[in-house]
Amino acid sequence: MIWHALCMPNFIKKGDAAMNELKNDILLDEWKIIEETFDLDNSLKNETLFSIGNGYIGMRGNFEEGLKDKRYTVEGTYLNGFYDTHQIKYGEKAYAFPEIGQTMLNVLNAKVIKVIVDDEEFNMSESIIQKYRRELDFKEATLKREVVWKTKTGKEVEIKTERLVSFNEKHLAAVRLIVRPLNFDGKIKIVSLIDGDVKNLSAEDDPRVGSGISGRPLKIDEKSAAENRLKMTAMTKNSNFKLLCIVDNIINTEDGYNTNVIEDDYKIGLIYDINANRNKETVLDKYITYATTRDYNENEAENKAVEVLNKATEAGFNRIKEEQGLYLKKFWDMADIEIYGDLFLQQGIRFNMFHILQSVGRDGFTNIAAKGLTGEGYEGHYFWDTEMYIIPLFTYTKPEVARKLLEYRYNTLDKARERARQMSHNKGALYPWRTINGEECSAYYPASTAQYHINADIAYAIKKYFEATGDYEFLVNYGAEILFETARIFADLGHYAEGKGFCIDGVTGPDEYTAVVNNNAYTNIMAKDHLDFAYYVSNLLKEKYENIYYKLKEKIQLDESEIAEWKRAADNMYIPYDERLKIHAQDDTFLNKKVWDFENTPKEKYPLLLNYHPLVIYRHQVCKQADWVLALFLHGEKFDKEQKIRDYEYYEKVTTHDSSLSPCVFSIVACDIGYTEKAYEYFMRTARMDLDDHHGNTKDGIHAANMAGSWMGIVFGFGGFRIYSDKISFKPIIPGHWNKYSFKVNYKGRLIKVTVEKETVSFELIEGQGININFYEKEVELKKSELVKEKMPL
Ligand code: BGC
Repeated sequence: MIWHALCMPNFIKKGDAAMNELKNDILLDEWKIIEETFDLDNSLKNETLFSIGNGYIGMRGNFEEGLKDKRYTVEGTYLNGFYDTHQIKYGEKAYAFPEIGQTMLNVLNAKVIKVIVDDEEFNMSESIIQKYRRELDFKEATLKREVVWKTKTGKEVEIKTERLVSFNEKHLAAVRLIVRPLNFDGKIKIVSLIDGDVKNLSAEDDPRVGSGISGRPLKIDEKSAAENRLKMTAMTKNSNFKLLCIVDNIINTEDGYNTNVIEDDYKIGLIYDINANRNKETVLDKYITYATTRDYNENEAENKAVEVLNKATEAGFNRIKEEQGLYLKKFWDMADIEIYGDLFLQQGIRFNMFHILQSVGRDGFTNIAAKGLTGEGYEGHYFWDTEMYIIPLFTYTKPEVARKLLEYRYNTLDKARERARQMSHNKGALYPWRTINGEECSAYYPASTAQYHINADIAYAIKKYFEATGDYEFLVNYGAEILFETARIFADLGHYAEGKGFCIDGVTGPDEYTAVVNNNAYTNIMAKDHLDFAYYVSNLLKEKYENIYYKLKEKIQLDESEIAEWKRAADNMYIPYDERLKIHAQDDTFLNKKVWDFENTPKEKYPLLLNYHPLVIYRHQVCKQADWVLALFLHGEKFDKEQKIRDYEYYEKVTTHDSSLSPCVFSIVACDIGYTEKAYEYFMRTARMDLDDHHGNTKDGIHAANMAGSWMGIVFGFGGFRIYSDKISFKPIIPGHWNKYSFKVNYKGRLIKVTVEKETVSFELIEGQGININFYEKEVELKKSELVKEKMPL
């Protein structure tokens, strides 16, 4: 339904590669997403797409004035890691089921600005809109809107808004509003509010949406208005955190105006009554700070907010915006991916990377939620998505962020220890499947707690981070403790079975359509790698950091015999293999089950999880997502091409890709085995998954893991980038649809740019010391600022 859009929308141009895919309203641009028609039916989805954030504050792309028709909006402002708890309700409860759920809260809405003319309030769902444009710019990290509104009495008003959430100051957001009467002189009212009447979405039938929190999650504590400054504080009901929101309003106009305070139980604000003159602009700059007692004590939180605000008003909107641009420039200089000849994918990949940057916590105490800070799907929880999908992007572009994400795991290690005890492991640490504060809060154990691979995923991320950065300081002081404590769980969990070796029973692998099985091959190969690495690190510490080693051993009461046992378990790890099919078996029983009747399953029955009881699904050979195929990527050096092809072809036939975490992995492995067309098709599904709303639920938030997965699709997939035994190698391929693409990776302080064309591949060492790399089977020497061009092998 298109609401009063009197101007013609721009024609939506199609990238040749994607003629059949384009079904949305977002215009193509290399560095932006743009909307020129406001369509209520796209409103919820586009609120997600136009979200802005800085890894701490996240604001959905709601309009400043809100939408009158509430069915088409989820007003959402979130602070990473700021949550309330609730009692999890079970029909039937068993021992060690988590009791307390956590939900990222929708916090006080401080971006509200309303424009009123002749008692008519401007609103996108009811007003007459003569011109409309909204754009999110990945270079500036600003969200802009331009509207021409015609009132019922024929008055025309131009309204422009610009919003940013500062990358340089985590507590700061700012909104600029510019109002200009086009055909009249007269009164215009501008209302600037902090709105405390906020709620979280309540649970629906979709397990991926909704929370255990109903009603207003925040108790408003205090409201005040003094000159330009508005303040509201609130308390969470159970977690007992205090939230402060302080806002400064700076108005700039040549027209006369008066200011009044307005207030009700949940709101505090200022009304500006302006005697506006035709064609004269009034500018309102609104600086917003949030600080909470999750980060500070009460006094510090207040001081912090005030300090940030004072600095912001002194710098002014333009300066803040300039600094924002500089931050983004640095990011793109380190990380940009260019795809020539395919604007459709170019927009998709930059959009994805930009959203990941906006969503990722970088203070060591917050992480990245499955939906970033853009929606309430999965309640703002952190999953293995971080280690297996998101950290790689940062490890090779902004390693300091990767480190912070790993520090988060270190900072929640005690909670993981507690969880291990609850799960009857008397030593070690078991990380939660879903969490915000480090405690397990997933109620459905077959698809959560049973995913013990989380421990090995974290170990894998530490290993790859260390390999790419050489950050001994992290490994020795933090990584080792995580590795040892988590390794202990596999040592305890596993056992030796006659004729098999070291077996791990009763776990769930990444594929959530197969639950609580013995010897999930992915879990076992990851555990093997984990135990090997823990063993390696223990030796490294013993040899080079003796003091630290003995202190750590003492701290966690680690015995040498345990370390020897890790090695023995790793050496004897059982990886199920079917001799008849000559493929790896996903687990001990997967291949004996009946194959799902895909032929007679209509499209509307997907995702299966919303249409079949879990047991029905578990009884079949059917995968929600890449499971063993993910291992083929992560441990690619361990298998020959023929083996990978057999495994890939088998599992592809039984995989639904109902999880958004799947297609990118299939794309990467398809590249590796030379299935370029297939790789391209899967890549198409990942690069624009949210832009084109492939899963139909972008309204609930972005699919963060997939977004970072599309970065992996270029770098590890088409670019064929790997590090094995401390040696970088590239085996790039180029899909027929592209003329050229380029990407950058950071390795131990070096920035390497790789440009792939049809016939040649060039390498440029932009920063850092010279290095020898492998290009297919050839060794190539890279020297600073020298472009090396190689012929693509036939
Ligand atoms: C996937 C999990 C993932 C979670 C959050 C689920 O649908 O199956 O692997 O961790 O979504 O993204």
